[in-house]
Amino acid sequence: MKKYSHAIVRIPCREMIHGLTTANLGKPDYDKALVQHQAYSDALKRCGLEVLVLNPDNRYPDSTFVEDTALLTTRGAIITNPGAPSRKGEIDEMQTVLGQYFKDVKKIQAPGTLDAGDVLMAESHFYIGLSSRTNFEGAKQLIQILTQLGFSASTIPVHEGLHLKSGVAYLNHHYLVINSDFLAEPRFQQYSLIKVINQENYAANCLWINDYVLVVSGFPKTKEAIEKAGFETVELDVSEFRKLDGGLSCLSLRF
Ligand code: GLY
Repeated sequence: MKKYSHAIVRIPCREMIHGLTTANLGKPDYDKALVQHQAYSDALKRCGLEVLVLNPDNRYPDSTFVEDTALLTTRGAIITNPGAPSRKGEIDEMQTVLGQYFKDVKKIQAPGTLDAGDVLMAESHFYIGLSSRTNFEGAKQLIQILTQLGFSASTIPVHEGLHLKSGVAYLNHHYLVINSDFLAEPRFQQYSLIKVINQENYAANCLWINDYVLVVSGFPKTKEAIEKAGFETVELDVSEFRKLDGGLSCLSLRF
């Protein structure tokens, strides 16, 4: 995959404690979240990225999960239409920000909804999860845009977890880290699968960045399996974001 040079993150806002969640892990500790977020930004820098840090936005409790607001490709950017009503306004500032980096920014339009946490890029193919956030119309619009850009794309049903990427991550060199929610998917069998054991399900949400893989701390088997496949890992604690169904990939946009 092409190396990334930039990332965009947003510092969590105080209202994050009221963010959307199904996790049942209690409310996030805001101060701890700030420390974890700083460590995350530092890790992106260590991977060689220039990191644009956006200010906290108290209007949107989930706004630290910037990944959902846009899909960034080597050939253009697409602003999403987030599926959760409380998150729709998050795209406004992101559209302005992306205008500084991308000439042509396309947009998913209602009634289509799409969270980019549902979009898994595997080289030049994009898998789009149909989830509680991403509907068929949103996926259809995205497929049309990606096809125009010269990519291919297809949909995958998401039955478990918030997003497609809650359960599967593409690493470079044809590797997929995958948990049991997606293991039976026939289209994923063409990849070298790094299978996440049930006790470590959450660890499937890892993040390839320029030869490093960011992994969640506390999941040693997954970390070991990724290292065995030849990747250098960087371990990060994202416990406070996990409480909001979030993880390593949702916390940044990379390009
Ligand atoms: N809490 C992240 C989300 O539900 O979108």
